[in-house]
Amino acid sequence: MTDATTAQATPAEGSLLTTKDVTVTYDLTHEALHPTSLTFEKGQVTALIGPSGCGKSTFLRCLNLMNREIPKCSIGGEIFYHGRDINTPKENLFELRKSIGMVFQQPTPFRKSIRENILFAPKKHGRVRTREEEDELVETSLRQAALWDEVKDKLRQSAHALSGGQQQRLCIARTLAMKPDVVLFDEPCSALDPISTFAIEETIRDIASTGICEIIVTHNMEQATRVSDRTAFFYVGDMVETGTTQQIFRNPHDQRLVDYLTGRFG
Ligand SMILES: Nc1ncnc2c1ncn2[C@@H]1O[C@H](COP(=O)(O)OP(=O)(O)O)[C@@H](O)[C@H]1O
Ligand SMILES: [Mg+2]
Repeated sequence: MTDATTAQATPAEGSLLTTKDVTVTYDLTHEALHPTSLTFEKGQVTALIGPSGCGKSTFLRCLNLMNREIPKCSIGGEIFYHGRDINTPKENLFELRKSIGMVFQQPTPFRKSIRENILFAPKKHGRVRTREEEDELVETSLRQAALWDEVKDKLRQSAHALSGGQQQRLCIARTLAMKPDVVLFDEPCSALDPISTFAIEETIRDIASTGICEIIVTHNMEQATRVSDRTAFFYVGDMVETGTTQQIFRNPHDQRLVDYLTGRFG
């Protein structure tokens, strides 16, 4: 039985990030995401789950307006960030992405040293002035991403010499160096081995405890239960059901979610 209230988040007053009836249309006609309303709070990790091609990445890319960069793609509805609708043509994307960071499936470090990877954006935005400020930001960002101990003696070496898992943690550290309050992850562990995956999952929990809001696309259901507080299930462009992670996995309502969790498709 479907409980209508589980499929619709109530946009909470004063929440950090809320989407209200957000839709995405590709190539002018293909509505890949049907009206989706979700609310994301400070210090909370939300997992977006569901089979491939169901609109998870499409939805995630709305939250920092990345879809704007795709030709013939339009985003409908409202996206409230700190109470302000950012889904307007006037929104300054350069400014927005300072506070809503993103980590992708493939680690994408710059062809620079570890240190310069961290400092690239903060320098560009005038966030660091002195050598001391730089050193401190490099250390705290790498510590937050649980990478400091492994790289502290080789900060000037190329980021490309790191392992895949270390590169992904460097990308997280680089995102954190801009002091975002939201971080978006699109299947951040799917290219990684289990040990690196575990390190990234721990990092995601640690970051949440500092008050950062995180949203993670994963099709690894165990990962969703390990890292997230809330889960939203997507199916063929619909956000079908959302709730606490415990409720979604232990007491799913919608038959499509039940079928997905029991492995009938996926
Ligand atoms: N850049 C794009 N241009 C056109 N169609 C796209 C684009 N990205 C995704 N789609 C389509 O949107 C739908 C949802 O895709 P996506 O959001 O990537 O799903 P998921 O992340 O759940 O696997 C799919 O039908 C996909 O083919
Ligand atoms: Mg995807």
